[in-house]
Amino acid sequence: MKPFALYGDHIWMDTDSALQLMPESFGICDGSGRCAGVFKTLPRAFEGISVRDLRGHLIVPGYIDLHTHAAQYRNIGLGMDHQLIDWLSDLTYPEEARFADPAFARTVYGRFAAELKAGFTTRAVIFASAHTEATSILAELMEETGLISYIGRVNMDRSAPDYIREPDAASAVAETARWLEAESGRHARTHPILTPRFIPSCTPDLLEGLACLREQYRLPVQSHLDEQPEEIEWVRELCPESVSYAAAYDRYGFLSGRSVMAHCIYMTDDEIGLMKERSTFIAHCPGSNANVRSGIAPIRRYLGEGLSVGLGTDISGGSSLDMADAVRDALAASRLLWRLSDDHPKHLSAQECFSLATAGGGAFFGRVGRFEPGYEFDAVAVDDTRWAWPGDDLSTRFEKFIYNARSGDVKAKYAAGTQIL
Ligand code: GUN
Ligand code: FE
Repeated sequence: MKPFALYGDHIWMDTDSALQLMPESFGICDGSGRCAGVFKTLPRAFEGISVRDLRGHLIVPGYIDLHTHAAQYRNIGLGMDHQLIDWLSDLTYPEEARFADPAFARTVYGRFAAELKAGFTTRAVIFASAHTEATSILAELMEETGLISYIGRVNMDRSAPDYIREPDAASAVAETARWLEAESGRHARTHPILTPRFIPSCTPDLLEGLACLREQYRLPVQSHLDEQPEEIEWVRELCPESVSYAAAYDRYGFLSGRSVMAHCIYMTDDEIGLMKERSTFIAHCPGSNANVRSGIAPIRRYLGEGLSVGLGTDISGGSSLDMADAVRDALAASRLLWRLSDDHPKHLSAQECFSLATAGGGAFFGRVGRFEPGYEFDAVAVDDTRWAWPGDDLSTRFEKFIYNARSGDVKAKYAAGTQIL
């Protein structure tokens, strides 16, 4: 890769959690896909490199979607009068079952990948379905977009109808191993992630088998945790030996290493302590949490406790695959929680929600989400003429960007230095 620069108005959160605003600047990507810094003039070492002129555009780090379900793409907007458990059985499982048909999967996943490619997202952590072939098709289509992603074949061998449930733990583990063998080394930018759906849908034998595969293939893991009170009660009944829902995952090592748990709304003090000790990532999915009537995760508290948090769209619990909506939803949820709860400290700011979408989720992928030397060069250029007015300074344009931007405003995009748009 040859080094290059983008010229425009750069904005990012630095490592000290300060918003950096650099109008009319050069963001440089070195020959290894990493950021070399943002400069007012091109440094001598980079004189003569190619410069993409994005004058007048905002340039921000790509957004990281830390949790979403590709196999629920067609269901966006359906069943929003259901609680989680009924929503899964009445809407989600019947839809996911259709991915047994590879032609159907190719059509739906093609549209899912195209929408992700066009918007703010440069990286995503994705649930597919329980079907190996369809999951491989999703990986192939995501690889073609140039985005960077983790994709999981979903595991479930209990508490689901026969038409979607894997017959038993042994065959689920064997099929997951077959999938991992097929995926191994197949793509440069798309990687497998171990995906036990959630504790209620996985027997102890399955979790144990997956833990062995995880060790063998050195995989990250994704699942759901503490989304609704009824679900938590169900886990308590299913796992009397574990002191908490988080502890039920921890028995198998699923909070450690690289692990992301979606939702985490109702965590006890013990669970927070455990997640902190294990450096588990939280995928905060405020849109989904409103639609499925799950609640509001106390993200301000989690950040104060030092937990790692990013944002997820969680379609089709969530009703938008656009991460710009996730940022706004996170802001709205935090403000409402602050209003409604006497003991909740200050709500999140726009800058903090922007930080969750970029550096917060980016940390799951390594050094990602900031325009700082050594960080991977993920960048999105945004045309803000729809809402900016002459005389607006960059700070004003940033505030307006948070509330106005949608995926159609994205005009250029790079992930790890590779041009996507
Ligand atoms: N818990 C288990 N599966 C799911 C799912 O598909 N979506 C959500 N929101 N929660 C889940
Ligand atoms: Fe989910």
